[in-house]
Amino acid sequence: MAILVTGGAGFIGSNFVLDWLSLSDETVINLDKLTYAGNVRNLDSLREDARHVFVHGDIADRKVLEELLVTHPIRAIVHFAAESHVDRSILEADAFIQTNVVGTFNLLEAARRHYDALDDKRREAFRFLHISTDEVYGSLTQDALPFSETSPYAPNNPYSASKAASDHLVRAYHHTHGLPVLTTNCSNNYGPYQFPEKLIPLVIHHALTGKTLPIYGDGKQIRDWLYVGDHCTAIRHVLADGRVGETYNVGGWNEKTNVEVVHTLCAILDTLRPRSDGRTYRDQIVHIKDRPGHDRRYAISASKIERELRWKPQESFESGMRKTVQWYLDNQAWVSGVIDGSYRAWISGQYGHQA
Ligand code: NAD
Ligand code: DAU
Repeated sequence: MAILVTGGAGFIGSNFVLDWLSLSDETVINLDKLTYAGNVRNLDSLREDARHVFVHGDIADRKVLEELLVTHPIRAIVHFAAESHVDRSILEADAFIQTNVVGTFNLLEAARRHYDALDDKRREAFRFLHISTDEVYGSLTQDALPFSETSPYAPNNPYSASKAASDHLVRAYHHTHGLPVLTTNCSNNYGPYQFPEKLIPLVIHHALTGKTLPIYGDGKQIRDWLYVGDHCTAIRHVLADGRVGETYNVGGWNEKTNVEVVHTLCAILDTLRPRSDGRTYRDQIVHIKDRPGHDRRYAISASKIERELRWKPQESFESGMRKTVQWYLDNQAWVSGVIDGSYRAWISGQYGHQA
């Protein structure tokens, strides 16, 4: 049998594919459009590996989907493919609606037709696992309880609204069509292969290249950070043992302000790669204009997945951050490889003279 992974050349997707094939011999069909955020080089170690079949294509392309589902014995779809960067969605949301909403809709339609045509035994085993985000729940006040699976949806930016729409479609395909779906809503991930437009890899890259470290507004916004390897393990648990139709929140119990995150990165870099002038990387921090509609606080209760599926994060914030900084130090060639002209245009458009 095989699993179909969408978006498996992106940050979490490629970590998931590498993880999956290090633990199992089950074939992965990896469908990815290779947008600016997708990078097949992440999967270089699988180049000669027959268990990994890379397909360059769009989840919105029904023909490609139907062909894949007919050609391969797919028993599950793990759906990562998305436009994922909040700041880009604020600037221009078209691709977010197209991929996150229309793309997910097309994938669900293809999955439903495939599922309906399966024999009873294969229908019993089939799963559609949708990877989503804690951002769909909106923003928490300082003293509010963390998001649970029953928190109301209140997305505040075009990215989170498009993910919320996709979550609702997934739910509806279960309720109306009986498609055996599972949804995970995860907090902020960090680790190897994250595109350097997101806070942690951006700060590491800027620090090492002598640029300013841009913090939006007062930097007291809170995110709940989870090492990507722990997210991949959670997804495997949900796929194997999750109850059909359920959602599972995934998080690291690591609430940190953005200032704390940047200070932690600076401290690790000061130790692992001290500046040549003997000063601290903290000197490079600047506070710049805030993100419009910036959510103040996210926090996730991972109690349900811990209780029902016996999942727990293995990395602490400190160990995960150290591993991550070390990975970026060891993989500067990967960073140079993804920083092309369009990346530079994005950085100067987004930060201008501010950073
Ligand atoms: P990413 O931007 O790094 O990767 C997205 C991947 O999807 C890329 O490889 C891209 O080429 C591919 N893709 C985009 N549009 C496509 C299309 N139309 N058809 C096929 N492939 C397409 O994203 P990520 O950070 O790895 O996030 C993966 C998923 O996890 C997303 O659904 C995101 O919403 C969710 N998520 C991310 C985080 C996080 O902190 N990064 C946290 C929770 C949930
Ligand atoms: O919560 C899960 C979400 O986490 C995922 O669904 C998204 O796909 C993922 O991108 C991430 O969204 P965020 O907006 O939280 O991540 P980002 O790394 O862009 O920003 C993290 C925080 O840091 C946020 O409060 C904004 C702030 N920030 C970000 C950048 C890029 C800065 O202060 N300066 C920056 O330059």
